[in-house]
Amino acid sequence: MALTLDDIALLLAGPGQRQYGREAVSQLDHALQCAALAEEAGESTETVVAALLHDLGHLLAPENAQEEAATPRARDDLHQYIALPFLHGVFPLGVLAPIRLHVDAKRCLCTLDAGYWATLSPASKHSLELQGGRHTQEEAEAFMRLPFAEESLRVRRYDDLAKVKGRVTPPLAHYLQKMAQVAL
Ligand SMILES: [Fe+2]
Repeated sequence: MALTLDDIALLLAGPGQRQYGREAVSQLDHALQCAALAEEAGESTETVVAALLHDLGHLLAPENAQEEAATPRARDDLHQYIALPFLHGVFPLGVLAPIRLHVDAKRCLCTLDAGYWATLSPASKHSLELQGGRHTQEEAEAFMRLPFAEESLRVRRYDDLAKVKGRVTPPLAHYLQKMAQVAL
């Protein structure tokens, strides 16, 4: 069931050309921008790869779910969990945890950072409600005790910024090399 690195490259280069939900960029642009922001911030290679792959679930979801993602949704697509069975045994926890936690990280940041919610795109505010809304204080504290919670919050912030039409990034090949460096 595990994907090979070549499978992941093909997913990003092929289906990754599709639009990223209701944002102005493709799935691949979004992944590359997110990884580039992580790299520019001096993150570990594992965290950069997590940033690259955090939305891989969108590319693995059934096609009708992908079409649905381009319109306002009525339910949570749970995309943060879809890629995990395909990546277990391929990458270490430092890559898998931020992928799994990047949605809850948004819920957590809404509680921990008073100005954060206002920075979210309209689509992201809409999905927040479907994903359970902002954390309670207790939920946010429990989140912060999870392994790689801090990295997940940072990936989330790169995620939110990685929606700029026309932003230039290093090519996919650059990040495929980083994937190979951290693969198990
Ligand atoms: Fe994302």
